[in-house]
Amino acid sequence: MSSMSPESSTSPAAGKPYQVIARKYRPQAFDDLLDQNHIKTTLRNAIEQRRIAHGYIFSGQRGTGKTTTARILARCLNCVQGPTDHPCDVCASCLEITAGGSPDVIEIDAASNRGINEMRELRENVRYQPSRDRYKIFIIDEAHQITNEAFNALLKTIEEPPEWAVFVLCTTESHKIPATIASRCQHFSFRSVDSNDLIDRMREICVKEGVDADDEALAVIAQSGEGRLLWQPPRRRFRSNPPRGLWN
Ligand SMILES: Nc1ncnc2c1ncn2[C@@H]1O[C@H](COP(=O)(O)OP(=O)(O)OP(=O)(O)O)[C@@H](O)[C@H]1O
Ligand SMILES: [Mg+2]
Ligand SMILES: [Zn+2]
Repeated sequence: MSSMSPESSTSPAAGKPYQVIARKYRPQAFDDLLDQNHIKTTLRNAIEQRRIAHGYIFSGQRGTGKTTTARILARCLNCVQGPTDHPCDVCASCLEITAGGSPDVIEIDAASNRGINEMRELRENVRYQPSRDRYKIFIIDEAHQITNEAFNALLKTIEEPPEWAVFVLCTTESHKIPATIASRCQHFSFRSVDSNDLIDRMREICVKEGVDADDEALAVIAQSGEGRLLWQPPRRRFRSNPPRGLWN
């Protein structure tokens, strides 16, 4: 059986693994991230001044870069050259975070791990020092799905975390994060991405990929994303059709 991830396959023509476009062009540094300038500037300053918060809330609509920014922040914090706002891209920490295999960057999908047992487990995990890197970074996606009881189990940890712990709670519904948690985190609101910026980025990618796309086609795609870098079906069908990367 092949051990390859479902996102990659071997192209018989090229003989080398194919990487889906959404992954290939996922920003790896703040410079690659479209818009969100208020967030980039604040995080860069925090890194430069070594004033890293223990808890962040990244909120905003789908496909605006919350998870991407959380991973960039993790690279900035754990790069061997760091903390730096220009991670080196070549150290084990940078490479592993990009590949999603860093032992000290723990991504949790709260849509399926939302209960008290999972949060207790997380609380235990936080107590142990990072296995190799500077920080242990917990990226919690869909954080609004955590139950109240489970949030309570996490409260003390977020209130008095060990020095190495950084939590990034990513959510499309920040009003559902209890005030007790939110008041202990720094909150960043991600804005819709400007459609002209989106068109420019798509054009750049098309050129790199050797794809012919006229401006009108790119404008239609950008418009259908409504400020997101994800395509999603009309709202009423959304629940049964999870969003896909725009360039999947
Ligand atoms: N601001 C941005 N600049 C460049 N690329 C972006 C930006 N926002 C999103 N993307 C791209 O869109 C895709 C989805 O981004 P990401 O997973 O970070 O979104 P999200 O805000 O976490 O969405 P969700 O709420 O669905 O989890 C990624 O491939 C990423 O590269
Ligand atoms: Mg996300
Ligand atoms: Zn590095």
